[in-house]
Amino acid sequence: MLASTTFLRLRGTRYIHSMDDAVRVRPMTRDDAPKVVSYFRGLSRAALDDMGVDPAKLPRKRAWIELIQRDMNAPDAEREFFYLGWEAQGTLIGHTNINQIRFGKSAFMHLHLWEPSRRTQGLGTELVRQSVPIFVERFGLRLLICEPKADNPGPNRLLPKVGFKLVRSYRTSPGWIGYEQIVNRWEFLPESIPV
Ligand SMILES: CC(C)(COP(=O)(O)OP(=O)(O)OC[C@H]1O[C@@H](n2cnc3c(N)ncnc32)[C@H](O)[C@@H]1OP(=O)(O)O)[C@@H](O)C(=O)NCCC(=O)NCCS
Repeated sequence: MLASTTFLRLRGTRYIHSMDDAVRVRPMTRDDAPKVVSYFRGLSRAALDDMGVDPAKLPRKRAWIELIQRDMNAPDAEREFFYLGWEAQGTLIGHTNINQIRFGKSAFMHLHLWEPSRRTQGLGTELVRQSVPIFVERFGLRLLICEPKADNPGPNRLLPKVGFKLVRSYRTSPGWIGYEQIVNRWEFLPESIPV
């Protein structure tokens, strides 16, 4: 978690890093990789469809875990992915990750609260609020992009609450596991200022 003295300014609006005792954000470790893969592999077709994921594109379990763990050994400037674990009362309840990382420039962000029963209670908003400054500072990002499926209400309602701006909607196959769909492109343009 970042120190409380860290803040970001975005397009003139001061964005104070919020500290919340109930939830915690931390970099994921090798031991967490199977949990991320189990989450995706345990999703129903309907749940995958809600987020525009093509089940046929999901890697096999072991290969996927190894891919994530191998990437964790790389220097940040060469990382393909970077995962933050989301915890509530010490329990891992989800993750957010970036990929398509252009170190010092940009990355794409993804959001997942694993249990549907934990959603729509404000946890996602708080956890993303805490996660964004970590991605931005660690990878020197000038632009953070999130492209949820246009009809997926969770991320599309959450993102403007944490400073993302809607840029456009367009048809694409987002990421490496998505099928062709209409997405909303949300962008966060940080200006990191040490206090
Ligand atoms: C996206 C996700 C992390 C959001 O977390 P969350 O804890 O549910 O979000 P919050 O409770 O902080 O809600 C943020 C806003 O979105 C709204 N919202 C969230 N899920 C919603 C849903 N299914 N339907 C309608 N509104 C929803 C909330 O009402 C809130 O808006 P409000 O403040 O105007 O009331 C979570 O829904 C999730 O993991 N979804 C499944 C995975 C997914 O689709 N990921 C996106 C891939 S990019």
